[in-house]
Amino acid sequence: MTIIVTGGAGFIGSNFIFYMLKKHPDYRIVCLDKLTYAGNLSTLAPVMNEPNFRFVKMDICDRQAVYGLFEEEKPDIVVNFAAESHVDRSIESPEIFLQTNILGTAVLMDACRKYGITRYHQVSTDEVYGDLPLDRPDLFFTEETPIHTSSPYSSSKASADLLCLAYHRTYDLPVSISRCSNNYGPYHFPEKLIPLMIVNALHDKPLPVYGQGLNVRDWLYVEDHCKAIDLVIHDGRIGEVYNIGGHNEMANIDIVKLICRKLNKPESLITYVTDRKGHDMRYAIDPTKIHNELGWLPETKFAEGIDLTIDWYLSHESWWEEIISGDYQNYYQRMYGGR
Ligand code: NAD
Ligand code: TYD
Repeated sequence: MTIIVTGGAGFIGSNFIFYMLKKHPDYRIVCLDKLTYAGNLSTLAPVMNEPNFRFVKMDICDRQAVYGLFEEEKPDIVVNFAAESHVDRSIESPEIFLQTNILGTAVLMDACRKYGITRYHQVSTDEVYGDLPLDRPDLFFTEETPIHTSSPYSSSKASADLLCLAYHRTYDLPVSISRCSNNYGPYHFPEKLIPLMIVNALHDKPLPVYGQGLNVRDWLYVEDHCKAIDLVIHDGRIGEVYNIGGHNEMANIDIVKLICRKLNKPESLITYVTDRKGHDMRYAIDPTKIHNELGWLPETKFAEGIDLTIDWYLSHESWWEEIISGDYQNYYQRMYGGR
């Protein structure tokens, strides 16, 4: 079994590669990644010399190169994590989101049609459903919830999902889609809420909370997401969408306060800043389908997962120090400088 994992030098893709190499030591895993600002080759150092692992630096939008790789590797399964993934960046410059997230997905699926695969899996997000109101805690996203996007990021992911379903219907391509809630865990790029707050708190820097910090996200430990994808690519039904989430809704401000407590830092570091444009209020997944069909349930409780995550950042300072000492500084200044 050969699996091409795109975007494997990023947060979830790298965790997925580690999980799969351990769980299925007889599989060959080929990681295709462009190494954008969010991709980090040092993340993959622990597996780089494994005989059944190969890393290829490549852009999923580069049709010729992608076809060449498929010709060479003849993959059985493709799991597409490669994407521009940060909402704030999509608000600043949407175009690269459309290129990578939509056109890149089309190139990968065209390669799958041309060379034949048993499964193309699209890693999508709960953000395609838009948001839910704070005063209706009884509402959750199911797979039937209409697509209703808010940001250029979520719109590009929704477009890719529609394209996947169209390739299934039109060309009979064996696709599946998973839509997961917010992940947290090791190797999370420090532009996202949890790692940004950990890294800033460790430097005694202000903790920039958007708006009033009341927005709610449904947090899932990254390994639980990886386990769910492993189940879907093997046993999930073709042409189907599976929601992934663990009923762990938390307001941003509560997460930030928790991180302060865990790191023994004062809440006076919290700084309320101008809200994100179009900011989604609440995400909440109903995971009944994946539970009933595939037996998936999250295994890591938030209390345990956040401790594991904080410990990981404390013991991997060189990983994130290297990131924040580079071009990240310019990004941070642009995003938070005048806020
Ligand atoms: P990430 O930004 O950490 O990693 C993205 C990876 O894709 C990077 O390694 C980057 O180099 C690579 N990449 C970007 N453009 C590429 C291109 N054109 N060609 C090849 N590689 C390219 O993202 P992540 O948080 O690991 O998210 C992975 C996937 O999961 C994304 O599709 C995202 O939409 C989805 N998702 C993320 C979350 C979350 O909470 N992070 C939740 C649900 C779904
Ligand atoms: P983020 O990690 O960017 O994920 P997403 O927007 O895809 O859910 O943000 C999570 C939440 O945290 C979101 O409501 C925006 C908020 N947030 C802040 O308040 N401050 C920050 O500096 C960041 C990056 C996010």
